[in-house]
Amino acid sequence: MRHGKDERMDTNELLAQLEVKNRQAIEGGGPERIRKQHEGGKLTARERLDVLLDPGSFQEMDRFKTHRCTDFDMAENKIAGDGVITGWGTINGRQVFVFAQDFTAFGGSLSLAHAEKICKVMKMAAKMGAPIIGLCDSGGARIQEGVNSLAGYGDIFLLNVMASGVVPQITAIMGPSAGGAVYSPALTDWIFMVEKTSHMFITGPEVIKAVTREVVAKEDLGGAMAHNAKSGVAHFAAPDDRTCLAMIRQLVDFLPANNMEDPPRAACTDDPGRRDEGLREVVPADPNKPYDMRRIIRSNLDGQGFFEVHQHWAKNIVVGFGRLDGMPVGLIANQPAVMAGSLDIDASIKGARFVRFCDAFNIPLIIYEDVPGFLPGTHQEYGGIIKHGAKLIYAFCEATVPRITLITRKAYGGAYIVMSSKHIRGDINLAYPTAQIAVMGAEGAVNIISREQIQKAADPKAERARLIGEYQEKFSNPYRAAELGYIDDVIDPADTRPRLIQALRMLRHKRDTNPPKKHGNMPL
Ligand code: HXC
Repeated sequence: MRHGKDERMDTNELLAQLEVKNRQAIEGGGPERIRKQHEGGKLTARERLDVLLDPGSFQEMDRFKTHRCTDFDMAENKIAGDGVITGWGTINGRQVFVFAQDFTAFGGSLSLAHAEKICKVMKMAAKMGAPIIGLCDSGGARIQEGVNSLAGYGDIFLLNVMASGVVPQITAIMGPSAGGAVYSPALTDWIFMVEKTSHMFITGPEVIKAVTREVVAKEDLGGAMAHNAKSGVAHFAAPDDRTCLAMIRQLVDFLPANNMEDPPRAACTDDPGRRDEGLREVVPADPNKPYDMRRIIRSNLDGQGFFEVHQHWAKNIVVGFGRLDGMPVGLIANQPAVMAGSLDIDASIKGARFVRFCDAFNIPLIIYEDVPGFLPGTHQEYGGIIKHGAKLIYAFCEATVPRITLITRKAYGGAYIVMSSKHIRGDINLAYPTAQIAVMGAEGAVNIISREQIQKAADPKAERARLIGEYQEKFSNPYRAAELGYIDDVIDPADTRPRLIQALRMLRHKRDTNPPKKHGNMPL
């Protein structure tokens, strides 16, 4: 009996010891640094995981792991967890793997042990087939560890690339991210940034000033809006940590867990047969008048719920997620309200990357088309619009997911082909009666093919107008393309939602493949 009592005491002692160790680990860099983190408008890594994941779902791994560095007095300077919290949990009941860098511990800097923890959850995410979400808040390579830290980055980059197209990879930049440390986020599928508290750059303002004498503030150089609106590196900007984490939860709801699964279907409470007669008035009769394509997109989607991606960059193309009949879909649309919806370098890159993500993760694509062509000019030509425009063609050509295209107005020239035309394996191609499918607009066409005839006419102005009318009648409509089978049907705009849903249902079990190869050579 006595023996048993002693054992019980030992167990209590052990549990008390575990409690102390857990408390120490949970404190990270200690109350003073946590206070500073809060003062800076940031949540701690643990608080962030609490907001990101379903309550009580987080299961931590490697809570007690520490670095093995003995240089610069580091042998005695250890913090349990070593500046990153890793594990798994759920978002709306679906499993995800996570790591959150803890800026209160060594500034969240990356040691080899820290990298090993990240690699462990990344490997588990890939093996278990679940998204990996990284919350970054780090001073970069752990200076005291030298090349060991760089090795850790290399290990992470490799796993990022191996997981690419296998499981969704999501990054939130929630503090500093500088130097080579920006490249793991850049290798993931989606980057979120928090306004004012997050920064990404290869070299900071001080180095830039020393090397080029250019003076630039940190926020202008690598803040959330710099990367959302100017560079296009980031896809989402949030005003604060909590909103950022809520947006990640929203995104995850649209995505399959991995490339072998279909995206998660939700119960559809919106009538699949719902018509919208207001859509008949959206596309203006004047072909040069702008309108917001998002009006049509929203009307079509279940509950009008459109989750726009990359909304601050290359606004002449709109991309995002929504649901049709409960099924997640990727929407990609020319935006006539911005630059007449023309395709330029940025729009091509934005569109191509979105198409490739959806294709990799079995998300059907709905394409809305009103495009006058590629944007002309030396700026575009010297910038390589030829190779960048080719990215969008490449992405559509190789995509095997269901693809439904709706031409609302202009579908001119090369841009007609690019936007998932029948010629590049579009599955169902519909058009509004207002669609104009032609090599170019009537005015430009007449100026080229009938120049002499106009000049010689008794009344050149009247002759030009007559020829434009003739051209429009012949080509600026959807019927010539429909006669040739390039358009499957011309539809009443009021019926758009039911028609899209019927096509999507038909395409549900689509099977298509590309020839076997190591990989293609996309024009990068
Ligand atoms: C070790 C670091 C650290 C680092 C910060 N800390 N960065 N420790 N290695 N890289 C520590 C600080 O010593 C400090 O410890 C704590 O984190 C908080 O840092 P502060 O400087 O007090 O915070 P703040 O004023 O907010 O400034 C944050 C910062 C700054 C802007 C991130 O710390 C900074 O400039 N750090 C260095 C950034 C950098 O150059 N990293 C290397 C990039 S190159 P105490 O104990 O005082 O709390 C790189 C190569 C990767 O990353 C290559 C991959 C291919």
